[in-house]
Amino acid sequence: MRKKIITIDGPAGAGKTTVSKLLSKKLGCVYVDTGALYRGVAFEIQRQDIDWENDTALEDFLGNLNLDFVTKKNSFILMSSGRNITNSIRTPEISMLASSSSAKPQVRAALLDIQRNIAKTKDAVFEGRDMGTVVFPDAAVKFFLFADLNIRAKRRFDEMPDGTKDINRVQKEIETRDHSDSQRKSAPLKPAKDAIEINASFLTIEQVVDKMLRIIEKA
Ligand code: DC
Repeated sequence: MRKKIITIDGPAGAGKTTVSKLLSKKLGCVYVDTGALYRGVAFEIQRQDIDWENDTALEDFLGNLNLDFVTKKNSFILMSSGRNITNSIRTPEISMLASSSSAKPQVRAALLDIQRNIAKTKDAVFEGRDMGTVVFPDAAVKFFLFADLNIRAKRRFDEMPDGTKDINRVQKEIETRDHSDSQRKSAPLKPAKDAIEINASFLTIEQVVDKMLRIIEKA
């Protein structure tokens, strides 16, 4: 039977992950953070010191890549060749490398099946950049979540451990990622034509999720 897929796209720091987690809990389905896959690629590029801008090196690397999501209770852990890398992919360096390497069409193609295979077996909320436009063009409901740059930077800043804090740097990194994610040729960040856009700048997580639930109920 066809599974019910909800997509949430949007720029870094708009609250997609927190919203997706709560929304999936209320809907009783799983949530899939597709950014983790791109971070997994970046993690392995960094670990194996791959010259990813060289197409031959990139294709060899992707041919040997073995990334997978494994279900754990209601969420997923990210495995790379049998190793749990879930907690190693959240550094600012990996964020930047995930953004730049995800512009490569070969990288995007390599991750497509993993995402679509999950959707074959489970109702899910998928969050990312191209969920509604490319990966799941037939999703039941598509959202595009955004917020003002300074608000997104402040949220990311507040989540960071003390000592690594510099709000100007956080804001600059988000701006750079917004630019590369939305200007790339392959699956750029943009709302799908039929996406419902939500400005989360002045809404709480609960307000965003309530809004989404009302829309999903009517769909
Ligand atoms: O959602 P995130 O911040 O963890 O994503 C990290 C990077 O991965 C993001 O800057 C761009 C890329 N990404 C993508 O290109 N497509 C997706 N569906 C998800 C993430």
